[in-house]
Amino acid sequence: MHLPLKDSAATEAAGACLGPLLPVGDAVIYLHGDLGAGKTTLVRGLLHALGHAGRVPSPTYTLVEPYSLGGRELRHLDLYRIADPEELAFLGIRDMGGILLIEWPERGPHFLPPPDMVCRLTTAEPGRVLDVEGRTTAGKALCQAWERAAGMKS
Ligand SMILES: Nc1ncnc2c1ncn2[C@@H]1O[C@H](COP(=O)(O)OP(=O)(O)O)[C@@H](O)[C@H]1O
Ligand SMILES: [Mg+2]
Repeated sequence: MHLPLKDSAATEAAGACLGPLLPVGDAVIYLHGDLGAGKTTLVRGLLHALGHAGRVPSPTYTLVEPYSLGGRELRHLDLYRIADPEELAFLGIRDMGGILLIEWPERGPHFLPPPDMVCRLTTAEPGRVLDVEGRTTAGKALCQAWERAAGMKS
């Protein structure tokens, strides 16, 4: 999927399209992109679409923020400031289950479960571009469903 996102609202809307498509089960989603690319904005739209009413803080300092929404267990991670990827082993990330939304996955090599779907946000004129690729059978199906849902909205 290749989706232009002209502004912040478009990034949230893309996340909102994905939220309800997520399985009530397990999925690992990697979110790549520079600082300020819009990764947390995407997750914010996703969580709000699943009924989260509060803030969506960046987990830069807490490493992981858990959410329980619509029968789904979600964990939003940001590995930007991780000092030692072995911290992930102590957290037990590999065995967590549920939906993992992981910003800066490249900072935790060897300690993360492999992704079902990989998202990449890059700056564009105007706004951003989102590229998404499914890596597993489930991830490919999710990516296709997301593309259809996002296409219907725009
Ligand atoms: N499509 C977009 N176009 C322009 N600005 C955007 C877009 N998506 C998000 N932003 C803005 O970029 C800034 C950084 O977003 P954030 O989600 O915190 O980035 P990241 O988590 O990737 O570091 C925010 O001010 C947000 O509103
Ligand atoms: Mg972020």
